[in-house]
Amino acid sequence: MYIARKVSISIYNILHRKEKMDKPYYLTTPIYYVNDQPHIGTAYTTVAADALARYHRLKGEKVFFLTGTDEHGQHVARAAERNGVSPQEWADRMVVHFTEVWRRLNISNDFFIRTTSPRHIKVARDFIQLLYDKGDIYPNTYEGWYCVPDESFWLPSQLVDGKCPQCGREVEMVQEDNYFFRLSAYADRLLRHIEANPGFIQPEIRRNEVVSFIRSGLTDQSISRKTLTWGIPLPFDEGQVMYVWFDALLNYVSAIDYGIDGERFRSIWPADRHLIGKEILRFHAVIWPAMLMAAGLPLPRQVFAHGWLTVEGEKMSKSKGNVVSPHELIDEFGVDAYRYYFLREFSFGYDGNFSRENLAGRYNAELANALGNMVSRILAMVERYRGGAVPGPGGGGEAPDAVLRESASRVFGEVDEYMERLAFNEALQAIWNFLGAVNRYVDETAAWDLSKDPSLSDRLDTVLYNQVEAVRLTALLVTPFMPETAEGIWGRLGYTDSIHDRHLPGEGAWGLYPAGQHVAKGAALFPRIEKDK
Ligand code: MSP
Repeated sequence: MYIARKVSISIYNILHRKEKMDKPYYLTTPIYYVNDQPHIGTAYTTVAADALARYHRLKGEKVFFLTGTDEHGQHVARAAERNGVSPQEWADRMVVHFTEVWRRLNISNDFFIRTTSPRHIKVARDFIQLLYDKGDIYPNTYEGWYCVPDESFWLPSQLVDGKCPQCGREVEMVQEDNYFFRLSAYADRLLRHIEANPGFIQPEIRRNEVVSFIRSGLTDQSISRKTLTWGIPLPFDEGQVMYVWFDALLNYVSAIDYGIDGERFRSIWPADRHLIGKEILRFHAVIWPAMLMAAGLPLPRQVFAHGWLTVEGEKMSKSKGNVVSPHELIDEFGVDAYRYYFLREFSFGYDGNFSRENLAGRYNAELANALGNMVSRILAMVERYRGGAVPGPGGGGEAPDAVLRESASRVFGEVDEYMERLAFNEALQAIWNFLGAVNRYVDETAAWDLSKDPSLSDRLDTVLYNQVEAVRLTALLVTPFMPETAEGIWGRLGYTDSIHDRHLPGEGAWGLYPAGQHVAKGAALFPRIEKDK
């Protein structure tokens, strides 16, 4: 009896562990409207999500990273109309701009969801039918304001100077017989969930906003449009289309086959993190969890709302003509400098301001100098003093060696802690502190002096080995942020496999560089940019 129980417990543990091990880290970005082309604001979330996805893969975890496009709604329909094509043709044309910019930015999403795909449409219709059957959706008349660019309903009391309180643009009066979702019925459960799970909405300031919003009283939400045709028809009333936000939020479950392949869905859901901009927090932290509760599904583990970026101090807008395309910056600075800048410059939860001058400044100081020069200096010394073959680490150790190793052993833990908090800028700061330690080591140990005295040859071996080892660790550390640079350093270190197949924590141990392997300095990783360029 006792043995049988023990066996069954351990079988349970094995199965449970297997399930836990198989559950990928599920990470999402918002799906972007195809009314216009992507810009540096849109790319901000996607680049951050990509660094996080890559970091989890670097740790040997399975990851499911999702992004995509939100293709229905009035805003998209009007853009199509202005351009004289059907909404579907417009979406098909625009989606390419997104896939293309993600390709250039080395975005490693595992799937790209489009809300006009048959799979998504089926899941959305089944989902809304389920809620309708449960009595959570009922017909009513909506009378109020609608902001087309934000696709959001507003009460007269919420408007600011008669305009959309979110974006400040004109709103339109809507009076329609719609269907409503019983959002108000979920207020208490939502509050309890938020209180019991402090990590559910982050950063904290955003959680507080949501809590006070719910406490101020939730009203039921209109979830269909009668006067619009560009959307998913309701299965229980084909004369209406689904409200674009209700449709869009379901991408997070349609992409993983909710209601189509239950086993697959259960093995991936819940999402570990929804990364979003702060302006769409209520949709993700109020409406979406209530929809999931209504369907009896577990809630995502975290909704993280980051800040909003301005350009040279101003909100980006077509009318101001200050919209910055990722392409122009990639052309000028390269993809990894782009990724580095946006993650290093801004504190992820807070607003920030893009400035070309800051980007150029960081490029020269932190990429061309601190990183690029360091790598080429170290590898050039191995070429010069040892014909490119990295010597074994020799015996003994001196004070600077211990300082370097201590810095190397600390940095991985720091990066891990910061990445867990999505503090990308601090993670990069920690890595650059390590680079500072490496550069100091190079200066203090002065291999060029050691090379002049044959009796110091052993010491020179140790110094060169340690420097190369530090370069190896640097390559691993920058992998999630600058995948091409990491691979470039890896190749210069003489490895023939891909650095993306190497994993932490194993590879983060000191002393794994194989002595005798040949390095090559190669071309500069980040050629300096002249000021007047
Ligand atoms: N389609 C909805 C989202 C549906 S998710 C189920 C939407 N799309 S959007 O194209 O307007 O993209 C909004 C998102 O783009 C923001 O939440 C943010 O992730 C990103 N950003 C767009 N402009 C931005 C800035 N200026 N600054 C930072 N992020 C910005 O809303």
